[in-house]
Amino acid sequence: MSAVKLAIVYYSATGTLDAMARHAAEAGEKAGAEVRVRRVTRQASQGDRRATDSQAAQAEAETAPATPDDIVWADAVVFGSPTRYGNIAGQLKTFIDSLGPQWGQGLLADKVYAGFTASQTLHGGQESTLLALYNTIHHFGGIVVAPGYTDPTKFVDGNPYGASHVTGPDNDAELGEADIAALHHLATRVVTVAERLAG
Ligand SMILES: Cc1cc2nc3c(=O)[nH]c(=O)nc-3n(C[C@H](O)[C@H](O)[C@H](O)COP(=O)(O)O)c2cc1C
Repeated sequence: MSAVKLAIVYYSATGTLDAMARHAAEAGEKAGAEVRVRRVTRQASQGDRRATDSQAAQAEAETAPATPDDIVWADAVVFGSPTRYGNIAGQLKTFIDSLGPQWGQGLLADKVYAGFTASQTLHGGQESTLLALYNTIHHFGGIVVAPGYTDPTKFVDGNPYGASHVTGPDNDAELGEADIAALHHLATRVVTVAERLAG
């Protein structure tokens, strides 16, 4: 059986989602998947300033930009977005909206999908962001593979909808052990379920 193709497609303005995507990719590879990590192109705005321009340039240089083909190619897709007003970032939504032609041909259906997010505050809308993302997956005809409480780590991070990190008042991108464990569990579970579907 050929390896599951996993696409990690995300947006990040200040580096948190960059770090989360790297952990999800590492776990996907460990689970035996062929992994593409793709970053939705940054669009400058007041809210999208990064700590420094060189940091932004480095993250962009290191990660290929997301294209519709990355979603079509994949058996499993993990989307990542900062929480913005309890919803996904407009940049990721614009990318998703560009997938109309692929959606129209049924090329987004029958794949496994899941999501991860970060917010500044603990009750700042991580769950609503992931649920908003999953609305779209239903329109794709995709299969949402939420983590639920399928692993002891989920009783620590406490988010059955996906994986998430709270940046706190300083917008700290450094992930804690529970965040990393949740990302690893999410990506591993997505790959395992995609394998079962293929098998
Ligand atoms: C326009 C905007 C809206 C935001 N809305 C929320 C929010 O609703 N709740 C929250 O806790 N944090 C909110 N934040 C903070 C971001 O979620 C946080 O900075 C982000 O997760 C960091 O991810 P990044 O470093 O990958 O860009 C918002 C930030 C911006 C710029």
